[in-house]
Amino acid sequence: MIDSRKLAQAFEHTFQRVPDVMVHAPGRVNLIGEHTDYNQGFVFPAAINFGTDVAIAKRNDRTVSVIALDYSGSTCHFNLDDIRFDQAQPWSNYVRGVLKILAEHFDFQGLDMAITGNVPQGAGLSSSASLEVAVLKAVASLYDLPLSGVDAALMGQRAENEFVGCSCGIMDQLISAVGKAGNALLIDCQSLAYEYHPINPNYQIVIVNSNVKRGLVDSEYNLRRKQCEEAAHRLGVTSLREATMEQLESSAEHLSDPVFRRARHVISENERTLAMARALEESDYGAVSRLMAESHRSMREDFEITVEPVDMLVEIIAQVIGVRGGVRMTGGGFGGCVVALVPRELVGAVEQAVSDKYHKRTGIRESLYICTAEQGAFSESA
Ligand code: GLA
Repeated sequence: MIDSRKLAQAFEHTFQRVPDVMVHAPGRVNLIGEHTDYNQGFVFPAAINFGTDVAIAKRNDRTVSVIALDYSGSTCHFNLDDIRFDQAQPWSNYVRGVLKILAEHFDFQGLDMAITGNVPQGAGLSSSASLEVAVLKAVASLYDLPLSGVDAALMGQRAENEFVGCSCGIMDQLISAVGKAGNALLIDCQSLAYEYHPINPNYQIVIVNSNVKRGLVDSEYNLRRKQCEEAAHRLGVTSLREATMEQLESSAEHLSDPVFRRARHVISENERTLAMARALEESDYGAVSRLMAESHRSMREDFEITVEPVDMLVEIIAQVIGVRGGVRMTGGGFGGCVVALVPRELVGAVEQAVSDKYHKRTGIRESLYICTAEQGAFSESA
């Protein structure tokens, strides 16, 4: 739990007054549908009980003053009319980026802000999207701006694409904005239509962080995106969302081997994502188990975004839960976390198996989080 009293106190200490508004935006875990969002496909994430909190108050000039509690109280100041990328304080670029874009659409004045969060960073649980959405929600509440969750998500994504320089899709910001307690969200990333699917309360979302330090994430991510675009181009479709497996197979000779496999992952992952939503609806956990296992295999062999310690975690957990639940890597890849849907009575056994085997096999210590599905920052309160 984030200590919001501590955040309010830090705000008061820094700015010598109380905040006008305090907001929270969650991180997320993706149950299935990886690297499909920027291919206009389907994703199935849930907002989680880890996130970012912002305390904020109006100023009557054009200055933005921010203190980041988690970076030893590092502060930054800039003018709303001259927002630039800052090499020295990378965390501040998420704040700068969203404010720059928000200011293109709405009039508002300066801000004093204090920020803290507990999403593990660099773990594939969307600490940056939760920061972006929290800042947007804070300013929208403070200045009473008519900003919808979907528009906030689009602004967060634009900030990452145009200001920070990562060509991410819409999933992370959208689930952080419009998630619903107890539910996962099936998102159609082409139309941005979404529907809620309840998670059976007899199952627990368990996330295990491999704690593998992620390297080359942005460059490999952007490369995957380019390869998918190339595949779509060669298949003569606007995005891989439009392509079928038959089309891909009949065009195999026009695609290099890696590009073929990237496309095969995306096309099959879209099918699995829709099937997963149906399987949860029907409480068919045998299907959940199979779909998550196939998704992981596809990420390992076709999309090539898993690393060995992550594969090992999946294997260790799969041995415990068998066909009674599912497990796969979650997020952008190259390290990070696995997500498992575990029957409650097996959670202890999963924890035990991971703690007995993972460190022994890899020399790395994992972190395990028991998660619940939470409200998004722009959702009505539960
Ligand atoms: C990152 C991106 C998302 C999505 C996932 C992979 O989290 O921010 O848009 O592409 O990777 O599914």
